[in-house]
Amino acid sequence: MAVLVLSDEQRRKWDSSDDALFYSQPRFVHHLDEAFRHRLTSLYRERIPADAVVLDLMSSWVSHLPDEVHYQSVIGHGLNAEELQRNPRLDRHWVQNLNTDQLMPLDDASVDVSLIVAGWQYLQQPEAIASELLRITRPSGQVLVSFSNRMFFTKAPQIWADGSDQDHLAYVGSVLLSQGWSEPEVIAEQTRNAGLVGYLGGKGDPFFSVICHKPSA
Ligand SMILES: C[S@@+](CC[C@H](N)C(=O)[O-])C[C@H]1O[C@@H](n2cnc3c(N)ncnc32)[C@H](O)[C@@H]1O
Repeated sequence: MAVLVLSDEQRRKWDSSDDALFYSQPRFVHHLDEAFRHRLTSLYRERIPADAVVLDLMSSWVSHLPDEVHYQSVIGHGLNAEELQRNPRLDRHWVQNLNTDQLMPLDDASVDVSLIVAGWQYLQQPEAIASELLRITRPSGQVLVSFSNRMFFTKAPQIWADGSDQDHLAYVGSVLLSQGWSEPEVIAEQTRNAGLVGYLGGKGDPFFSVICHKPSA
């Protein structure tokens, strides 16, 4: 049973229709710019061991994992089957609306690293998701929650829609901590736009990541 952190009000979103409808059409687009994606892939290169079982939760047609690293397996989850089928990094995947059902079809302690990219901002029951991720993660395993400052506003619960970047970092960390994850490590960086614009000082999407470990005992 998850420890509740949010009030009912904070879980509400403008568009309360079924999320599955919103994601019924595949979107073969990048939700984050090249600078952000480059930083994310370098973080994955640094933090994810090559023999890991990786879960890409709230995924799409891309997982941002480094091309040259072969993981033991990469499991994908999302809301659009066509996007997940097109994702070349996934060994298997499943479709599930996490706002209606938080129990994941994965065994206890079966995953080394879980990833969520630009997805946490749509969770209405984040405590139950953080608790479920703890259950499926092996001792000393990690969760990496990454995001920028963009969102589908009508689909984000009030806690996210009303918050600043700093609020988002504190919020993700506090929910993970409340369910038994370690003290969060926070990465907050400004990226530089790719190409000539970046060379001239142009900024890319800001990069935020909250990283926690599952206690070993
Ligand atoms: C902005 S996209 C990011 C996709 C991917 N992580 C990426 O980096 O391109 C948000 C994703 O969150 C997932 N998502 C949103 N609402 C969801 C829900 N209620 N249940 C499960 N997944 C959801 C969908 O899979 C969607 O692709």
